[in-house]
Amino acid sequence: MSSKIEQLTELLKRLNSGEEPARVREEARDFLATVGPEELSFAEQQLVDAGLAPEDLRNLCAAHIEVLGDRVSRMKASLPAGHVIHTMIQEHERILGFLDELETLNQTVQQEECAVSADFERLEGIAAHLLGAEPHHQREEQVLFAELEKRGLFGPPRVMRMEHEELRGRKHALQELAGAGKEMEFKEFKKKLDAVAKFLVLTLRDHIFKENNILYPAALQVIPEAEVWQRMKLACDGIGYCCFTPPR
Ligand SMILES: [Fe+2]
Ligand SMILES: [Fe+2]
Repeated sequence: MSSKIEQLTELLKRLNSGEEPARVREEARDFLATVGPEELSFAEQQLVDAGLAPEDLRNLCAAHIEVLGDRVSRMKASLPAGHVIHTMIQEHERILGFLDELETLNQTVQQEECAVSADFERLEGIAAHLLGAEPHHQREEQVLFAELEKRGLFGPPRVMRMEHEELRGRKHALQELAGAGKEMEFKEFKKKLDAVAKFLVLTLRDHIFKENNILYPAALQVIPEAEVWQRMKLACDGIGYCCFTPPR
């Protein structure tokens, strides 16, 4: 085991052990600043292969987030319009907008004393857009992750697939709530909305941040051939785009 992986394992244990988080995160930040995205992705994969639960990687990802800052706009600017990753980053921007709407709507509903019919309509619209992101996740899974896995990078795609599955269930729950909420006691509706909205906002924002800042940069490093990206673009075209994908 290389010393970087040993250091990562040690940091993860401490992040998961409940040791004073600020201190460990500070150390994690310093350490992660010395590791490139590709190297980190492979190290994370080796940790999973060695028996670490993919869920435990989330703590490391959270520390990683603090290190990376917003490199995503630079990465996006370096790619031509229509590039697989360029389109995915644009879609993330739209999805983050829907999550902002959901967060605001939930805050509004939590202040209200009785049901307002416009809230249910807005909620239905947001749920439809979030569920409409399915072609984005399918392109990631069937084209991008598949290519990464072919090249030996299994860990991060495994974590992302697991989150897609979990998120899919909650998006359906949000849609059902938008439909059934009117018939429900308002207090009950508020409680259910608060739980599902908070989960989606937190988890999907975190998921997108990890893809933008860890997985996509790693993919650009791991797949250097322009012709492979062109082939992947055709496969993505075959799967299709979301109702909110900007024109390419
Ligand atoms: Fe994803
Ligand atoms: Fe994504």
